[in-house]
Amino acid sequence: MRIKNMRPLIVGNWKCNPTTLVEAKRLFNLVKIGVKKIRNTEVVICPPFPYLAEFFDRCRKIQHLKLGAQDCFWEEKGAFTGEVSPKMLKDLNCEYIIIGHSERRRYFRENNEMINKKIKAVLNFGLKPILCIGETEKERKKGKAKEILKEQLQKGTESIKNLVVAYEPVWAIGTGKACGITEAKEAYSFIKRLAKNVPILYGGGVNSQNARDFIKKVGFQGLLVGGASLNPQEFTKIVKAVSSIPKCNILFFD
Ligand code: PGA
Repeated sequence: MRIKNMRPLIVGNWKCNPTTLVEAKRLFNLVKIGVKKIRNTEVVICPPFPYLAEFFDRCRKIQHLKLGAQDCFWEEKGAFTGEVSPKMLKDLNCEYIIIGHSERRRYFRENNEMINKKIKAVLNFGLKPILCIGETEKERKKGKAKEILKEQLQKGTESIKNLVVAYEPVWAIGTGKACGITEAKEAYSFIKRLAKNVPILYGGGVNSQNARDFIKKVGFQGLLVGGASLNPQEFTKIVKAVSSIPKCNILFFD
């Protein structure tokens, strides 16, 4: 590992949207046009699996625009019906893979052990994992937020050092109401103490109004954007809003 001058990392997680290839191409092209000239950032678009091959070439010409996936399996190949391997994703020009998103933990019962295996597989193929961690509203109310973050982080990253962590308070996801700056600062410094020298992103209710504050006021190295990444104008505004923030030194992938 070595110190790298890192640009703010803005990841667009399209989730299970849009529902046709025509719409996906349109969205991708508008995002591409929007972010093309905003150089002081690294933008990652994570569309659903079926659209990845379509965007393979479209990313090549813009150095700061990368392709990512929303999940992957831990095996390279074999009899695992319905799964997608990191090797396949690498072959499609993906660079980043989101792992352990709260929706996968909730609807598909992914646990920290499975997530750890996925991260290791992602790294084995030279890809960059983005590990999502975050407490639910119920856990927060019970005063268990830090305990949950610690458990997700420690079990998920066991024997792993090179990754990106995304703090996504589950209660803020998809609500349009992001975490407050004070709460975000508290979570950020807690995670930073446990996950030293890795980039930490914020996700949950990010929009063009609050995007800059999470990086400038709190210190996050980037953002994981869900709903707003489906609106090319809003997503471009988010990228623009953080692009004037200076690069930060961080120990990063080698
Ligand atoms: P949101 O989702 O921006 O729609 O809140 C973020 C995420 O789930 O990654």
